[in-house]
Amino acid sequence: MSDTQKTATLTIDDKSFELPIHSPTAGPDVLDIRKLYGQAGVFTYDPGFTSTASCESTITYIDGEEGILLHRGYPIDQLAGKSHYLEVCFLLLYGYLPTATELENFETTITRHTMVHEQMINFFRGFRRDAHPMAIIVGVIGAMSAFYHDSTDINDPRQREVASHRLIAKMPTIAAMAYKYTVGQPFVYPRNDLDYASNFLRMCFAVPAEEYEVNPILARAMDRIFTLHADHEQNASTSTVRLASSSGANPFACIAAGIACLWGPAHGGANQACLEMLKEIGTPDRIPEFIARAKDKEDPFRLMGFGHRVYKNHDPRATVMKQSADEVLDLLGVEDNPLLQVAKELERVALSDPYFADKKLFPNVDFYSGIILEAMGFPTSMFTPIFALSRTVGWISQWKEQLSDPAHKIGRPRQLYLGETERDYSDIENR
Ligand code: ACO
Repeated sequence: MSDTQKTATLTIDDKSFELPIHSPTAGPDVLDIRKLYGQAGVFTYDPGFTSTASCESTITYIDGEEGILLHRGYPIDQLAGKSHYLEVCFLLLYGYLPTATELENFETTITRHTMVHEQMINFFRGFRRDAHPMAIIVGVIGAMSAFYHDSTDINDPRQREVASHRLIAKMPTIAAMAYKYTVGQPFVYPRNDLDYASNFLRMCFAVPAEEYEVNPILARAMDRIFTLHADHEQNASTSTVRLASSSGANPFACIAAGIACLWGPAHGGANQACLEMLKEIGTPDRIPEFIARAKDKEDPFRLMGFGHRVYKNHDPRATVMKQSADEVLDLLGVEDNPLLQVAKELERVALSDPYFADKKLFPNVDFYSGIILEAMGFPTSMFTPIFALSRTVGWISQWKEQLSDPAHKIGRPRQLYLGETERDYSDIENR
């Protein structure tokens, strides 16, 4: 906890209370209200956590006004351009850029954990073939706690590390298996001679009947999508993981909780919803109709892939993603992709409309990611699983950070109670 020299004074009726203020290394000061209830007998009210810091962290920093995203201090555009996903995983987990030897060892460790217990195949078989892959993944990740008993003791640092490696390594395998299951194709086992992204592409798209060559440019684009989604400080799913973990739940249960939260269309489900929206719009001439709907207070429709709780200027991940969309479609020879045309025109029209400008709504990371994923051959139902796969390292890094803080407590919010006060039970014949 940072030094507290500054204080704020809160006055309620005729009593004043001194509240410490913590100064972060970057970002706004943080008012410490932990002792407020004990001293003043009041709660604070902040549903949606718009002004509440839920924890201390040294992992990721976002400046939403300036459109800045840093992992351990390194800007996301530099990481997306110069690094690669497993190096970013190391950075998030351990706090520094690895040496060549450390990276090689880390890559070897992850590669050697990619297979899942053979018996877990039975779990997949229990699902309907038309199950959403997210439904399968959330179940199977939770079920890992029934297989990997030697990495569920959260008080043992070595077991925590093994669980971290297992989750990062097995998520692509499980996501690919969920996909294979829903299309009725045989599972494809991971291969140790392939890098993380290539391995995932192969496990999704290879079939036993023919050789599958991973296109290195598509593997690079896949790796960049993983990197851009790797962590995003205290978002809804990460906070869910931390809250689940605060009770002492095992790592697989905590990550399953994060996956469940990510699924919603206001969060990780936005990439699927965005592509479906672009398809529904279909042609640029229909854009005004959808813009009008997004602005209509009576209509629940929102522009998917637009807006962000924190970014109020631009989402730096969206800038890289847009470039990537151009590169991938170019590589695949998909000229004049109609969805990309609709997306670009929708972005242009929305950004020049005062409604979106006034509310500081800009394309977020998922506005362009779906276009790339679809061009690669993924169905829309796999978009959110790919986000979950990428974010696993962020969830784990935050989980690990939380557990290494000896002062961490169970998360237990208060409430503003507006229900009935105490009243007597009435027997059924008297109601
Ligand atoms: N389209 C139209 N209007 C919007 C949109 C949108 N996409 N997003 C926000 N608004 C409007 C709201 O109607 C609201 O208007 P009001 O002040 O007149 O009531 C105002 O902007 C503020 O919106 P809130 O929902 O209060 O903002 P919040 O910070 O709670 O929500 C969120 C952020 C959930 C991302 C929202 O912008 C949204 O629903 N976007 C679409 C879904 C999406 O793309 N989610 C992905 C987020 S990024 C990620 O998880 C990777």
